[in-house]
Amino acid sequence: MNILAIETSCDETSASLVSNGTKVKSVVISSQIKIHAKYFGVVPELASRAHIENINPVITETLTKAGLSFGTFSKKIDAIAVTVGPGLAGALLVGVIAAKTMASIYHKPLIPVNHLEGHLYSSFIENRSIRPPFLCIIISGGHTELILVEDFGKYKILGATRDDAAGEAFDKAAKMLGLEYPGGPILDKRAEFGNPDAIKFTRPYMKGSWDFSFSGIKTALLNYLKANPVKNKRHLNDICASFRQAIAETICYKAFEAAEKFNLKQIALGGGVSANSLIRKMFDQEGRKNKVKVFIPSLIYCTDNAAMIGCAAYLKQKECGLGLSYTRLQLTPTPSLLLENWY
Ligand SMILES: Nc1ncnc2c1ncn2[C@@H]1O[C@H](COP(=O)(O)OP(=O)(O)OP(=O)(O)O)[C@@H](O)[C@H]1O
Ligand SMILES: [Mg+2]
Repeated sequence: MNILAIETSCDETSASLVSNGTKVKSVVISSQIKIHAKYFGVVPELASRAHIENINPVITETLTKAGLSFGTFSKKIDAIAVTVGPGLAGALLVGVIAAKTMASIYHKPLIPVNHLEGHLYSSFIENRSIRPPFLCIIISGGHTELILVEDFGKYKILGATRDDAAGEAFDKAAKMLGLEYPGGPILDKRAEFGNPDAIKFTRPYMKGSWDFSFSGIKTALLNYLKANPVKNKRHLNDICASFRQAIAETICYKAFEAAEKFNLKQIALGGGVSANSLIRKMFDQEGRKNKVKVFIPSLIYCTDNAAMIGCAAYLKQKECGLGLSYTRLQLTPTPSLLLENWY
């Protein structure tokens, strides 16, 4: 089954042609980082406008890269998938309108996909061996969720962040440190050259709960910087390394504790923060030590991309037995769509 997937939930305009859920024939991601950088965050109105400008070129390039065109669309594409939430209303709307338009013109079924389900199944693109039950940890710009995937489409959220998401904490810390936007990846690069033991930030383990809280560690950084302004590059790298260590250890500790408690032998990571080099290394090492199989998507499938949406759409049809309903022209975006009550 060839699915053309579209993702516009935040600041990436992306399209992908995915065959049978795992064969990515093409994926195009147009990032808006340059537009939002001077504001140190995504400006919803600017995001919507950029999606409007980008959506047609991105879809056309996706088809071209897969050796297709709008002329061969009808013959070669079986369904269209689109992110319907959660995300920014105006941004989601651009993708949903594009998907509905194509579904209507070419008489194709339209598959609505939850953005978080995309992150949740992003490991499936490259690993056919993973099957439920497994533990998934979504660590992204807006979410930090520990999810027990009992079966396809059957999720139990064990814990979530009570304040900042992991990506948000990295981005805000980077801003405090005077780093460029988006801070997460830049802080990660600097941390590689620093000493992770230079500053002892408390690990917010939140014992007795599966929830996360990163606002305390952010305040700890602020207080540290007030008392110890950044002296030089070496000092900056040490702060980045210590901060990253505290966040990575917290995430990794809680995930493996949950896997043990629920007797799960597989952990899948998803979301932009799973691109973090220390988090990848730690999960890999802990997995080997604890005999838990760890699935971490390639970097391209960590941050927002349409291939994961095509993969999730396929699994919904195949594994959840939803069947292909026809063009859903009544479909509207749901900015605060929840994962648990999606089905
Ligand atoms: N190497 C890295 N280390 C730490 N954080 C990173 C790294 N690479 C990306 N990030 C962070 O990942 C986040 C973006 O991830 P993603 O695109 O999945 O988020 P989002 O789509 O905005 O949020 P959500 O998926 O929750 O709706 C940003 O906060 C970014 O700083
Ligand atoms: Mg995302």
